[in-house]
Amino acid sequence: MARITAGVGTSHVPAIGAAIDLGKTQEPYWKPVFDGYEWTKKWIEAEKPDVIILVYNDHATAFDMDIIPTFAIACSDSFKPADEGWGPRKVPDIHNHADLAWHIAQSCILDEFDMTIVNNIDLDHGLTVPLSLMFGQPDQWPCKIIPIAVNVVTYPPPSGNRCYGLGEAIARAVESFDEDLNVQIWGTGGMSHQLQGPRAGLINPDWDQKFLDNLTQDPELLRAIPHIEYLRETGSEGIEMVMWLIMRGALGEKIKELHRHYHVPASNTAVGHIVLEKDT
Ligand code: DHB
Ligand code: FE
Repeated sequence: MARITAGVGTSHVPAIGAAIDLGKTQEPYWKPVFDGYEWTKKWIEAEKPDVIILVYNDHATAFDMDIIPTFAIACSDSFKPADEGWGPRKVPDIHNHADLAWHIAQSCILDEFDMTIVNNIDLDHGLTVPLSLMFGQPDQWPCKIIPIAVNVVTYPPPSGNRCYGLGEAIARAVESFDEDLNVQIWGTGGMSHQLQGPRAGLINPDWDQKFLDNLTQDPELLRAIPHIEYLRETGSEGIEMVMWLIMRGALGEKIKELHRHYHVPASNTAVGHIVLEKDT
């Protein structure tokens, strides 16, 4: 059977992708950001996941005001990196495990989580930057990726509780897929940041660290955080953190924190990263 073995949370700041692509990772500004991912790069090389369910948000690249799916799962065989205004990043195409993606879509929808099924989509920095952070610059990504896109750009985004519940439904879907697969789930975005308006540049390290603590200590508390608290405490883009709760919900009750990294700033953002292992 397929099994979820671990979860990864990470920021997906686009400037991180540019720093990797332009060979700047060892420059004084960037080195402390990337140093915090060295542990994970070694860990994931040993873990060798077959599939990553990668929860991210599209930033008005593939979806605009015409269509705003709350939860979308990409089910086609492969995807290209999106052109976000400077041409597509020169990173490999992304290949899906389409059978598992369709199975997750069916299982979640019959489990009353009404996913939008997407068969044609280019993938922006929300998905490609985490892959670069974890795998560096390979010719091919070393595993299959199932993209799950969450609307956190246009009000109203889903509640953290709904995201957590979707994670639990994704876990039920994976556990009922009859192929021996090592599956990881990643949640991306965050941590505190606000990109526009009078509070642009807002960062709240205390709140962010408490959020990271409570992924293991009190996930029920995280489920109950209302939108207004994300906005007030973490800025308008801090709401991206609800995507981490899909990852957390999919891991079940017993987990272990293996690694944590927190650094301010990268671009306008507090970079957070955590590795959680499912305790079986
Ligand atoms: C930045 C961060 C993001 O998460 C994003 O999607 C876009 C920009 C930033 O810090 O610049
Ligand atoms: Fe973002």
